[in-house]
This record gives sequence, C-alpha cells and structure tokens, in this order.
Amino acid sequence: MSSATAAPSAESPSRVAQDTVLVLDFGSQYSQLIARRVREAKVYCELLPGDTPANEVRRRNPRGLIFSGGPASVYAATAPQPDPAIYDLNVPVLGICYGMQLLAHNLGGAVAPSDKREYGHASLTVDDDAGLFNRLPRELSVWMSHGDVVSTLPPGFRSIAHSLNSPCAAIAGPGGRYGIQFHPEVAHTPLGNDILRNFLYAVCGCAGTWEPESFIDAAVSDIRRRVGDGRVLCALSGGVDSAVAATLVHRAVGDQLVCVFVDNGLLRRDEAERVIDVMSRQRHIHLVHVDAAEQFLEALRGVTDPEEKRRRIGRTFIRVFEEQARSLGEVQFLAQGTLYPDVIESTSHDTQHAQTIKTHHNVGGLPPDLRFTLVEPLRYLFKDEVRRVGMALGLPEDMVWRQPFPGPGLAIRVIGEVTRERLDTLRAADWVVIDEIKRSGLYRKVWQSFAVLTPVSSVGVMGDGRTYANVVAVRIVESDDGMTADWAKVPYDVLGLISRRIVNEVPGVNRVVYDISSKPPSTIEWE
Ligand code: XMP
Repeated sequence: MSSATAAPSAESPSRVAQDTVLVLDFGSQYSQLIARRVREAKVYCELLPGDTPANEVRRRNPRGLIFSGGPASVYAATAPQPDPAIYDLNVPVLGICYGMQLLAHNLGGAVAPSDKREYGHASLTVDDDAGLFNRLPRELSVWMSHGDVVSTLPPGFRSIAHSLNSPCAAIAGPGGRYGIQFHPEVAHTPLGNDILRNFLYAVCGCAGTWEPESFIDAAVSDIRRRVGDGRVLCALSGGVDSAVAATLVHRAVGDQLVCVFVDNGLLRRDEAERVIDVMSRQRHIHLVHVDAAEQFLEALRGVTDPEEKRRRIGRTFIRVFEEQARSLGEVQFLAQGTLYPDVIESTSHDTQHAQTIKTHHNVGGLPPDLRFTLVEPLRYLFKDEVRRVGMALGLPEDMVWRQPFPGPGLAIRVIGEVTRERLDTLRAADWVVIDEIKRSGLYRKVWQSFAVLTPVSSVGVMGDGRTYANVVAVRIVESDDGMTADWAKVPYDVLGLISRRIVNEVPGVNRVVYDISSKPPSTIEWE
C-alpha cells in the first residue's frame, strides 16, 4: 500500500463553498444519505463523527448542523454524545431521531422508552408550520424507526407536530434548534426533502448555490499548489473515477502527469481502445498503455476458485504497475479516484485523524517501498457528483455513465477456468446485452447489466443439426449502492431480443437464461 502523508490530499470544498452544513454521525445507517440529500438541495455538506470537537466544527464555519439518528439510547453508558461545546456555537441544529433525543437530553429535557415503538410508515400531524413545516400539508406521511421518545421538552422548546404514539414527534426551540422523530432523508418520507430544504434555507439561511462543477477551479488550483513542479502518476482502470481524477490533475499540471493503463485483457469489447482514444488521442494526456493480457491469462491458467482469481489478478496488477512506475524515474505523487463514501468509511471510526488509504478495489495495493504522496481530488464527492464533474470536464457520456464494473473484470464472469477463447465468447455475448439495454433506454436505469458464461453445456437444435454448446446467463439488476439488489423486470421483448441475438451472433452459445435472484441471498456477480 502506498504511504499515508500528513497533508490532506485535497482541500475540502467547504473552503470555497458559500454555505456548509455538517452532519454529525451518531451511527445511523442513513447518515451518508442525509449528506447526499443536503447536497442535492445544493448546500455543501460533510459528514463528521458525532464526537468531533467543537473547535473542529467551528473551523468549517457551518451554517447549520444535523445530528443523525443512531441505534443507541441516550441513557446508555456508551451512548455517543456530541462535544457539549457544540451548543455554544450558536448555529441551528436539526436532530433526527436519536439526534432529536440527544438535543432533548443535552438541553435539559427527558427521553423515555416508549411503550409503543414506532417502526415504518406513520402519519404526522403538523401543529405549527413555522420553520421546518413551512408551506407543507398539515398531514404528512413519514418514516419512523424508534423505541425512545422525548417525554419532557427542554426549557424553551415546544412540540410542533405529533403522531399517534409520539406527542412530540417534532420539536422546536430557540436559536433554530429542531428535532424530528422521523427520517426525512429516506424515500419513505415523500416530503422529506422539503422538510430538509426548509431547515437549510429558512432556518439556516443557506443560499442553495452548491454545484459540484463549481468545485473544479478550486480543485485545479489546489492540485497545482500541492504538486508544484513534481510528477504525478495515475493508474487508469477504464472507470469513471480514475478518468475524472486524471483529467482534473491533467488540467492542473499538464505533462507532469503520466497515466498508466494496465490492460489486463479482462475488459469488455472496445473498452481498452476507448480509454486510449479518449485520454491519449483526444485529451493528449501522457499515457503508458501496457498490454498485459498475456501475463494475466498466464496467471489465471487452471484457476477456478473465484477468490484465487482475484488474488492472482491483484498480484499481477501490482507486478506490472510497479515495473512501469519504477521505469518512469522520480515520481512523487500518486493520483487516485477515491470518493467520499470511501473516505467516510475509513475515517468515521477510530482512524478519524489518520489519513487512511483504502486499498482501491480496482487498483490493488502497492508495495510498501513504492512511496507516494496521494492526490485524491474527488475525496469529497459522491458518485453522482463525480459524474457531473466528468461531464463538465468534457469526458464522453458513455465513459462518465459507465455502469460499475468489477476490478477483476470478465475473469469473474467466466465461471470456471478463464481462457482466451471463453473470454472472447463472453465478450461477444456481453456486447449484445449492453447494446440492447442501451437501445431500450434502460442502461442508466439499471445498476448493472451483463452476461455470464456458465460452465454448463446444453443440447440445442440449429437448422437440421443438433448442437451441444455453452449456456449464457444474463444478469440485470437494480440497486442503489450494490449492497442489496433486485433482478430487473426487463420487458420480455427486450429479453427475447437479447436471447435471439446472442444465440445467432455468438458462436458456441445455444441457450440463454435470465437470472431472477435478488441480493441477498445471491450476490450480483456469480463469482
Ligand atoms: P457482489 O457480487 O458482491 O457485487 O454482489 C457488488 C458490487 O461489487 C462489484 N464487485 C467487485 N468490484 N472488485 C471490484 O472492483 C471485485 O472483486 C468485485 N466483486 C464484485 C460488483 O460488480 C457489484 O457492483
């Protein structure tokens, strides 16, 4: 793994954003979602651990704070608490669920276990529509998930909405402090975004001017300042993150950037060519293209175990990349397309202040003696924001909107041993799936759509002859984040066309099946 450095690898956009709102994370599964919703409302937002010291919070000059939900009970000995000095900052606070209970508990009210827990849909009646519920209907459908309720309001607070089991389902206090028992960030609260917007605009006074594109200039000058006249190395994977990161770095320091594209021979049809065309021919980025297909195939020879495939691919990547890196002479910086969710994941626990580098899925770890200072220009962006930045930078739409693609590539979609011939068969079938899914307008609507070459042969009949050939499985799933997924209810005529074309156009395939398993219990990939 490359070395961590003391300097942050990208300046936070809060420096240039007009308004920042911070989410203090008390362990809710929805904390990241709150931050995304706030940014969707065009207010720059960062997620910080719940116990971040007040002076750290003040340094970011927030317009408002949101306390997330969390699984604890405020009375538990280990219940996460904010720094008490947070309340002296005099900025508006919105406490959500556990966050509301913290407000009540910390400011002199009381919280008690409810004899009637509320989980799922609930109907909320608004009793005071100033502030949070400004211009919203009196009855709102909301999503609840709590066991404790606010039983005594803190001094100066009043209840502004109730539900069947919570007389204080929303509370308001002096200084723009609000608490809500329900989750406005989830889709199950249909007007949740309006409630958040009321907090951001009416209560905090934010202007709603954050656009990811507006961060480009600041990111470019930040990279320039940090890199000076040093050289930067960037590994391109064919995916959008590394392409956007490289394009930003190139805009900042031009030919001081050298990109290495290790072509592992496991990409989809035309993908390697596309990377070279866009990055090298169109954008004139110094690109070293390493055709390492043979080495990867050799490493995979005889291997059928999925994890062993991954390990060998990872090791081969490191060997090839390292060889290239060393041949480039003195290079001080390594640019990576790390995104905000990775940063949150690696900094939200005890590593809060350490700059942890997540081993990039697609790139693999690097040897310890290959020491670089990291440049991670996307480390404050969510995926949809990276796509917007990519478009603004003029990258082609098909690259910016490429569906997620696993680092080990087609090797984990050729079930069983990976050979050149089987890769070719899969590549041809996969091309048909993508082509038809794009034609039907579903490409961006689904999470992933691809073909899998099964190790099964089946009997078929073509013309007058009997065939005994490969079975291809088609996998098309819908998902928000890849953690859970459902098989996509693709129209039968699209599936029919995919099947017909694969059998007609791909030699060696005589049967196509559609995978109708969801995750869990199945995974998205077959291996
Ligand atoms: P699963 O199969 O675990 O996949 O449901 C979830 C998401 O992760 C991708 N995936 C990988 N990505 N290296 C990667 O970079 C891997 O080894 C890998 N395995 C799965 C998968 O495509 C899906 O989007």
